[in-house]
Amino acid sequence: MSRCAPPLCLWLAVVLLAPLHAKVTAPAQQHAALGLPFMLGCNVTTEDGEVLKQVRWLDVRNKTILHYQPQRPGDLISHDGVELAKQRAHTSAIALEKVKAGDEGCYTCVFDVYPTGQQQGKTCLSVTARVESVGNKTAVQGKPVTLSCSYGLTEKVQQVLWRKTAEQGDTVTVASYTKQGSVTVETVFQDRVKLSRSLGHSQLTINPVHTEDEGCYTCDFHTYPLGSKSMTACLAVYVLPRPEVSYSIDVDVVQANCTAVSRPPAELIWNVENHNRSLGPSETSSYQQGDGTTMVVSTIHLQAKLLDEEQVTCTALHQGLETNISVHLNRTRNTHIILLSVGCVVLVLLICLCVCLKKC
Ligand SMILES: *[C@@H]1O[C@H](CO)[C@@H](O)[C@H](O)[C@H]1NC(C)=O
Ligand SMILES: *[C@@H]1O[C@H](CO)[C@@H](O)[C@H](O)[C@H]1NC(C)=O
Ligand SMILES: *[C@@H]1O[C@H](CO)[C@@H](O)[C@H](O)[C@H]1NC(C)=O
Ligand SMILES: *[C@@H]1O[C@H](CO)[C@@H](O)[C@H](O)[C@H]1NC(C)=O
Ligand SMILES: *[C@@H]1O[C@H](CO)[C@@H](O)[C@H](O)[C@H]1NC(C)=O
Ligand SMILES: *[C@@H]1O[C@H](CO)[C@@H](O)[C@H](O)[C@H]1NC(C)=O
Repeated sequence: MSRCAPPLCLWLAVVLLAPLHAKVTAPAQQHAALGLPFMLGCNVTTEDGEVLKQVRWLDVRNKTILHYQPQRPGDLISHDGVELAKQRAHTSAIALEKVKAGDEGCYTCVFDVYPTGQQQGKTCLSVTARVESVGNKTAVQGKPVTLSCSYGLTEKVQQVLWRKTAEQGDTVTVASYTKQGSVTVETVFQDRVKLSRSLGHSQLTINPVHTEDEGCYTCDFHTYPLGSKSMTACLAVYVLPRPEVSYSIDVDVVQANCTAVSRPPAELIWNVENHNRSLGPSETSSYQQGDGTTMVVSTIHLQAKLLDEEQVTCTALHQGLETNISVHLNRTRNTHIILLSVGCVVLVLLICLCVCLKKC
């Protein structure tokens, strides 16, 4: 028996065991995003004298989804949503038009090589999805608001859980819905919060919304076996301003206040209506109210006769308003007050006159 030196043995072994015929390679595992196109490919290496006669692709259920003969390009047979993406001497790739949840699994590429016989490759696809949400929302106090989140791989979801993080940073559970079909709403939210019975498109409705509902809401899809998938969107709650004006007259100077309570604070602008000019300067002060709203008071001083000549308005601007609200300094009440003041002055003068006449 002749013995060989170890490096030579290794070389002999490699040469003797190396395939002398076609070989298929393909990536073992790939991740594809739900709803997007994806390409799967296999490579085949052939030796001299070997001819590739036919290529077949089988889907996750071992059904043929694509089938062609490289030498007869016209004879392609493919299923809906699957296309031949690449057909070269050594590569065959298929494109999935839009990845669906059911596309997950292993695909087989089958190469019929003459005269060697059939060669197979396998490549496995796992489908991933992200939680979608409409993003941050604003709501008006007293009105309903719905927050929603979607996750495409519904059949993997075991539970949907909604949590709320208030501005101060503490997080509480709001509601949950499980695969078994039970909805749980925490006691503190029970009278105003509803959760939809859906594992894919989850909707949390608050009706009516209160200022203390402001905060960030996280929807958490507990999936198996992918783990937790979540998304956070913040809710801002507005209180709309209802501006009011009041004024007092001192000789011929009017001091007017425009007052609006809102959240966040409104901006108040004084102007002369139908004219392109603002009245100024005005003094603005704001006061925090206990309920999360702010009272803004804007004060101006103006000549009393301006009130008779022009319509003076206070306009409240607020991001929650579709159109800003204007209120007028009421001229009719103004004339009443002037008449009253004139009346008082006349009365005083008459009394003085009487007193004078009696004394003199
Ligand atoms: C297949 O071949 C291409 C080049 O032709 C290469 O880029 C790719 O990485 C190969 N894939 C595998 C799985 O071997
Ligand atoms: C597909 O065929 C392979 C063997 O070729 C087998 O192991 C596998 O279980 C089959 N899959 C299905 C879903 O029938
Ligand atoms: C949503 O609101 C939060 C807090 O108000 C903020 O940090 C975040 O950037 C906002 N996100 C978007 C997309 O506007
Ligand atoms: C206007 O507001 C100030 C305080 O901001 C108050 O002192 C004043 O009495 C108010 N005047 C009127 C006419 O309401
Ligand atoms: C408003 O004022 C601007 C300048 O402040 C002027 O250019 C414009 O013509 C004015 N428009 C009207 C309608 O008066
Ligand atoms: C009132 O609102 C409109 C938009 O709705 C805005 O363009 C306009 O500037 C506002 N008026 C004033 C006085 O700022």
